[in-house]
Amino acid sequence: MTTIELCGRGGTVPYHIADGALVGIQRLLHSALGTRRYFVVSDATVAPLYGQDVARRLGAELCTVPAGEGSKRWASVEAIARFLFAHHVERDDVLVGIGGGVVTDMVGFAAAVTLRGIPWVAVPTTLLGMVDAAIGGKTGIDLDLGKNLIGAFWAPDAVVADPLVLLTLDQRQLRAGLAEVVKSAMISPSALEGVLDRALESVAHGDALRATELVVGAARVKAEIVALDERESGPREALNLGHTLGHALESATSYQRFLHGEAVAWGLLAALRLARNHGLLATAEAQAWAARVLPLAPLPPIADVGWEQLASFIARDKKRRGGSVRWVLPRLGGVVLGAEVSDDEAARVYGELCTLSPEGPFTSLF
Ligand SMILES: NC(=O)c1ccc[n+]([C@@H]2O[C@H](COP(=O)([O-])OP(=O)(O)OC[C@H]3O[C@@H](n4cnc5c(N)ncnc54)[C@H](O)[C@@H]3O)[C@@H](O)[C@H]2O)c1
Ligand SMILES: [Zn+2]
Repeated sequence: MTTIELCGRGGTVPYHIADGALVGIQRLLHSALGTRRYFVVSDATVAPLYGQDVARRLGAELCTVPAGEGSKRWASVEAIARFLFAHHVERDDVLVGIGGGVVTDMVGFAAAVTLRGIPWVAVPTTLLGMVDAAIGGKTGIDLDLGKNLIGAFWAPDAVVADPLVLLTLDQRQLRAGLAEVVKSAMISPSALEGVLDRALESVAHGDALRATELVVGAARVKAEIVALDERESGPREALNLGHTLGHALESATSYQRFLHGEAVAWGLLAALRLARNHGLLATAEAQAWAARVLPLAPLPPIADVGWEQLASFIARDKKRRGGSVRWVLPRLGGVVLGAEVSDDEAARVYGELCTLSPEGPFTSLF
């Protein structure tokens, strides 16, 4: 069992990671939170696989929401709150969200607003959830106007991840989650590069049993960055590596073509190419990182998405951030924040990206 200390509300909280952790969840939660009444929320896919079992182990009632991003809405938050009130929820009771980032974001938000805030526990069951969504205290839901527009900082009181659940996760989802792991390794190579080179290929090819050390390494990197910057003003920007282009690709294709991590994988390649242009990385280093993106392929194609479509989304982002696009670029041993990249240069690099085959190899970019 590995336990990482996360920043909670008014102190640190444990993030337990171990193969088989779900079997011992009752003991883990009782030692973190004491004997309490638990309520479990899961989605329709994860509930029969793991949610029902966890609810039984905790002696808890179970509420199930539909699976997928479409259920990360007000209606689900209200349904969760009504489920809680139907069982006479009290302020010391604990809400447990077991599922991917959709479930943990929404359950965390429901916990934040029910009775003005009740304790909650995240049990992430996707790789993205384990290394990203369950860490950092951001909770929220989508509006038809955009994703994650409504939300709150409401950190969980404990996080428990059992990487064995990744055995049932769809291959494509697993590979997409690996993009955030590669991103974390680029941000903090000293922590993660070695682990990545030992396990990335096998996990990408479906050997989820090798995922545990990647989860531990990447979770640790995010936890450390978030601890420096709980409210997202400075160092946390590093986590945006690969996301300037990634978000634009997702938006320009109406969230239909890419899983988040797949769009981020393209974004990481763009950041590598820009970093090489800016003299932040030597060609050989950029190629070594591009080779680490290869196990995530095949990626959905980008060649038919024009730069003009992306530029309008990047410009919108720019407005929101006060007038400049702040690119995060890799450099030897880490990243630089707020790098200046002209629109022309970004367009040129995107054009080069479009000449790559989505199957790879990606090293010819350099
Ligand atoms: N709060 C944050 O800081 C943060 C960070 C990154 C992402 N997110 C959010 O996370 C969400 C995406 O999360 P996601 O990629 O985990 O998607 P998801 O929650 O939709 O899960 C993907 C699919 O996999 C299924 N699934 C989950 N675990 C499974 C398992 N072990 N076996 C079989 N099927 C399983 C789910 O039912 C779902 O259909 C987005 O809404 C995003 O905004 C939040
Ligand atoms: Zn991301």
